Amino acid sequence: MCGIVGYIGEKQAYPILIKGLQRLEYRGYDSAGVALLDGGMKLYKRKGKVSELSAYVSDKDTSGTVGIGHTRWATHGVPNDINAHPHSSPSKELVLIHNGIIENYATIKEGLLNRGYQFLSDTDTEVLVFLIEDILKKENCSLEEAVRLALNEVIGAYAIVVMSKNDPKKLVAAKKGSPLVIGIGEDEYFVASDATPIIEHTKNVVYLEDEEFAVIEPGKKLSIRTIKNAEITPYIQELQMELENLEKGGYEHFMLKEINEQPRSIRDSLRGRMDPSTGQIKMAGIDEFEKKFLNAERIIIVGCGTSWHAGLVGEYLIEELARIPVEVEYASEFRYRNPIINENDIVIAISQSGETADTLAAIKLAKSKGATIFGICNVVGSTIARETHAGAYTHAGPEIGVASTKAFTAQVSVLSLIALTLGHKNGTLSESRYRQLLEELDTVPDKVEEVLKTNPQVKGISQLFKDVRNFLYLGRGFNFPVALEGALKLKEISYIHAEGYPAAEMKHGPIALIDEEMPVVVIANKNTSYEKIVSNIQEVKARGGKIIAIITDGDKEVTKLADYTISIPAIDEALSPMITVVPLQLLSYHIAVMRGANVDQPRNLAKSVTVE
Ligand code: F6R
Repeated sequence: MCGIVGYIGEKQAYPILIKGLQRLEYRGYDSAGVALLDGGMKLYKRKGKVSELSAYVSDKDTSGTVGIGHTRWATHGVPNDINAHPHSSPSKELVLIHNGIIENYATIKEGLLNRGYQFLSDTDTEVLVFLIEDILKKENCSLEEAVRLALNEVIGAYAIVVMSKNDPKKLVAAKKGSPLVIGIGEDEYFVASDATPIIEHTKNVVYLEDEEFAVIEPGKKLSIRTIKNAEITPYIQELQMELENLEKGGYEHFMLKEINEQPRSIRDSLRGRMDPSTGQIKMAGIDEFEKKFLNAERIIIVGCGTSWHAGLVGEYLIEELARIPVEVEYASEFRYRNPIINENDIVIAISQSGETADTLAAIKLAKSKGATIFGICNVVGSTIARETHAGAYTHAGPEIGVASTKAFTAQVSVLSLIALTLGHKNGTLSESRYRQLLEELDTVPDKVEEVLKTNPQVKGISQLFKDVRNFLYLGRGFNFPVALEGALKLKEISYIHAEGYPAAEMKHGPIALIDEEMPVVVIANKNTSYEKIVSNIQEVKARGGKIIAIITDGDKEVTKLADYTISIPAIDEALSPMITVVPLQLLSYHIAVMRGANVDQPRNLAKSVTVE
């Protein structure tokens, strides 16, 4: 997490940096800072959001055509002005911004303390800038050489940019584990954690690879070397992203915009990949590894948070339609539990950002054991997308709201295509069922459009429950993961405690929680467990719980039982998660707004979790 941005050229750096930090704020927002060079070094840092930094800086001197900026998600040291980045070297000649964790910082710090250095902050980052200056002075070398030597001593993850008062026409940037992209303009360069601060200035970018560092000097060609000192030819790519996708487009919050974008984003995730009229699915990544997929002894899906929930839906889809055994694992558990993996395994890694540290580590582990890795990522060119053998982008477009919405439905849409194609190819899915599902999949965007019309009704229900302290979400089969996802959405943005459960599990414990105070959201659309879920609803009613049911249009039975209902169009249950999740996203959104929470930037969270 943490967002970093840098500029060097002929323009004033500050406006570019502050706008860039606003774009990167999804990566962390507990403190922010900028450093500018204009003869002297100017350093401004503030606890809180980027807006607090810009208010603080409004009456200060922000001149300078070179600068770096940072928005933080605290790992080492509480969020305060001192721990905010940039961090300065002892002489104040160097400043550094960092995204990642220096794991051996305590050992390095001890060595520096023994040599008489005194630290101001509690961060691992300050240790790194001290180390660089220590080397610079000891070795009497160039800034880039000092950075290179320092990075050879570092264990951990980093994306850094270093700026020096004594070398004002140069930035040095390096990366390992955390992302870093360099934008190439005319006589100017941009550096950032992702391309969003760069897109309005240039479309030509270079993504640094792990253990590479760049010397960035306007008017000169970009120089990239590995930290072992091997020269690298920069690979310049053209960004495909459009600026308007990064704006709120008239919505009050990015989350609401992204919920409403789902008809389009699901359509984009399917576009060019299937044709219901001919019954064809074309997915290059699957086609390339078709034999591997069809002969796989099992598929392991790894991911975190919402992506893990999408993985659970994937398990139901692939096992049901393609009859291939699937295991779904939290990437953070998988990577540390010495899992049994072999060359016949396929690992599907799901990640919106493509940067989640645990997911990345999980695929590296699986890769080292010979498994074939397939990625389902949203961010084009992201680290996970580049680490996999094959994959399919979700094409949902940039997701800025910290709570994932359109990424989830696009992930499930891609997983549906994978399950359908595998089931069709290995003959476990009859031609007629395959065709029927393809046709239904094609209708999902329109059905989501329909569900979005329930917004005023969901808002009304939200008003009634905005002050409760607990929520329970129940679902069965394909909609059990949706119950988990609904609960996650509510807790992360409204700070109401919520739990998702398979509806039948309720009687094994959670039923004890039910009383008149407890709203229970039940996903009760028409499906194979419909009768069972009706019984579960009755069990809740018998104990005074309040039922908010997601029902299929025209369902009279649950309408009679439930306190509140939200109707969705009929859809095959295998594809229903993309529809049933939408009212749950809206419910959490409205409750959070009514509680005055910062929906797009919930406390303690960050969009891209690049630390473990
Ligand atoms: C929840 C949410 C997180 C992410 C998780 C994985 O709304 O956004 O739970 O799903 O941090 O992130 P990605 O998908 O980027 O790997």
